[in-house]
Amino acid sequence: MARRRIIAGNWKMNKTPSEAVALCAELKDLVKNDDVDVVYCVPAIDIVPVAEAVKGSNVHVGAENFYIEDKGAFTGEISAPMLKDAGVEYIIIGHSERRDIFSENDVLINAKVKKAFASGLKPILCCGESLALRKAGTYKEWIARQIKWDLTDVTADQVKGLVIAYEPIWAIGTGETATADQAQEVCGMIREIIKELYDAAAAEAVRIQYGGSMNAGNAAELLSKPDIDGGLIGGASLKADFGQIVNA
Ligand code: 13P
Repeated sequence: MARRRIIAGNWKMNKTPSEAVALCAELKDLVKNDDVDVVYCVPAIDIVPVAEAVKGSNVHVGAENFYIEDKGAFTGEISAPMLKDAGVEYIIIGHSERRDIFSENDVLINAKVKKAFASGLKPILCCGESLALRKAGTYKEWIARQIKWDLTDVTADQVKGLVIAYEPIWAIGTGETATADQAQEVCGMIREIIKELYDAAAAEAVRIQYGGSMNAGNAAELLSKPDIDGGLIGGASLKADFGQIVNA
């Protein structure tokens, strides 16, 4: 069974609502591809105008963050039902920027993964090692531990609908990309972990992305690897290059 490619932009904290609508218009014809799931993960305030702007196209809408309760006294937060009602399908969980800058730990990240599934949102679960761990040679153990913690009590059926993004922190926004072989090594290992934790069918179905300075120039080689089913793209998702990555 061939896995469907998924190319997702993570806009991070970029684009005002009107800039977001302009970017959707700029990318509209460039991201056409019926064989790829194309996703724009956008800031909360851009979700409604972006959902409107991409209506009728092949682009799916994603969010960058949410909180695990449905409603109530959680000042500043946004809930899964709110995202669903606004047209969101995908949700980024466990991005290294949320882990490092906003102190999200694996307990919260696991709760978010479970809540996303319970709410009908598709999680894009991020994992990845720091430069120190890469240099120390302990990155594989680190990533294996992240995956196990973050998927605690998640079922095999749910994992079949999961997207995992391998994002080495040293490659995010640095212009330094993991080589295709380095990315494949970890993405292949992640699939093996899913097989050990669940079964062969779950491992075959789970989609694994690479993220970290992916661009129009390096996308094709990264995406040619057997265990890399797509990309999670930061900087290059904010410009026309994103269309080239979708069609790489
Ligand atoms: P860059 O593509 O800007 O390196 O960002 C990657 C990323 O963090 C996507 O989530």
